[in-house]
Amino acid sequence: MRTIYTDAEIFRDGRFERGRLAVEEGRVTADDEPRAGDRVVPLGGRRLVPGFVDVHVHLREPGFPQKETIATGTAAAARGGYTAVCSMPNLRPAPDTPETLGLQRDIIRRDAVVRVYPYGCITMGQRGCGELVDFAALAPYAVGFSDDGRGVQSEELMAEAMRRAAAVGRPIVAHCEVDELLRGGYIHDGAYCRAHGHRGICSESEWRQVERDIRLVGQTGCRYHVCHVSTKESVELVRRAKAAGLPVSCETAPHYLLLTDEDLREEGRFKMNPPLRGRADREALLAGIADGTIEAIATDHAPHTAEEKSRGLVGSAMGIVGLECAFPLLYTHLVLPGVVSLERLVTLMAVNPRRLFGLEGGVAAGDAADFTVLDLDARWEVDPAAFLSKGRATPFEGWRVQGRAVLTAVNGREVYRDETMKNQ
Ligand code: DOR
Repeated sequence: MRTIYTDAEIFRDGRFERGRLAVEEGRVTADDEPRAGDRVVPLGGRRLVPGFVDVHVHLREPGFPQKETIATGTAAAARGGYTAVCSMPNLRPAPDTPETLGLQRDIIRRDAVVRVYPYGCITMGQRGCGELVDFAALAPYAVGFSDDGRGVQSEELMAEAMRRAAAVGRPIVAHCEVDELLRGGYIHDGAYCRAHGHRGICSESEWRQVERDIRLVGQTGCRYHVCHVSTKESVELVRRAKAAGLPVSCETAPHYLLLTDEDLREEGRFKMNPPLRGRADREALLAGIADGTIEAIATDHAPHTAEEKSRGLVGSAMGIVGLECAFPLLYTHLVLPGVVSLERLVTLMAVNPRRLFGLEGGVAAGDAADFTVLDLDARWEVDPAAFLSKGRATPFEGWRVQGRAVLTAVNGREVYRDETMKNQ
């Protein structure tokens, strides 16, 4: 049976236009004239956008189901309006061979409600050092190669990884962090850190490795994507790399765009890596969004147990959840005040990530029907107790927001409907 979503503002070719979306056998069809026998879903003027794609999430399975599972993580994604996520490889076992990656793929096939594209490791055991994986063996199953959670420390090893990734046509997706510069730090090395006697993570620990890697991209021609950019220096390095025509892209996360170290509190829900940076960094990230240097917003959804997040800034695990409140936060705090247009936000969350990683799904005729309906008038409060994710730690707890996903569909199948859409 065909389903026709009517009375919607649909995002196509960079702008919203009133129209219909017709879906048959999982695909968007060019002919959207309603006929007898169609199921018609009126959307009351709501926005319909290509489903969001989060290229940086931690789904924790196999290995850490107490923190999150493929089932709970993808349910959280669907609720946040995501139709696809790319899953990071800090798992047990780490996906460093087709067999170990296969364990994750089996769970994805069984439990995922949105598309999950796993990354393969760069190094065996995702150690950031030692032996490289077999890139050719992993390439058919991996959306890219990453050791996220760890930087690849040796320049020679990264150069060789880039050569091999380039040879198999997959990107290197880099968590940039120079271990030598960390010196036991766990929050940004800024005013808050000094005032409260903490140990700081300097900005250089990130941008030094971005700088090195961009040099290596020049030598190897590898497609290269920088994870969770948090510093002004990294933004400038990526800007220059793009101007030089290198195949470099990057993402940042909502918390780096909306918070700084001035917002820190002595609670684990403010702790993540990279850390909340200074005001100048946040401004540089917004400038990077404005001029296209930063092409994607990813959440770095990193769930941990309540106990692991209960040990304050010093002792808590690094990582916060993000899937269920990213769009509302960015809509409320960037779009409504006029910092970023809604069109740009959808481009950063849906269009660009799909393009950068060559992923399917969308709302054009012939696309696999992956889409999200947004209610921009819904007003609510971020309440972690209501999350579908097992992770509850977010610095945005209690924030008043506007806008939310009310319906999410993957391959034409509705995988999430909120209360307001239940009877339609
Ligand atoms: O905050 C973080 N959490 N940063 C990382 O690099 C890893 C992640 C995790 O896996 O918890």
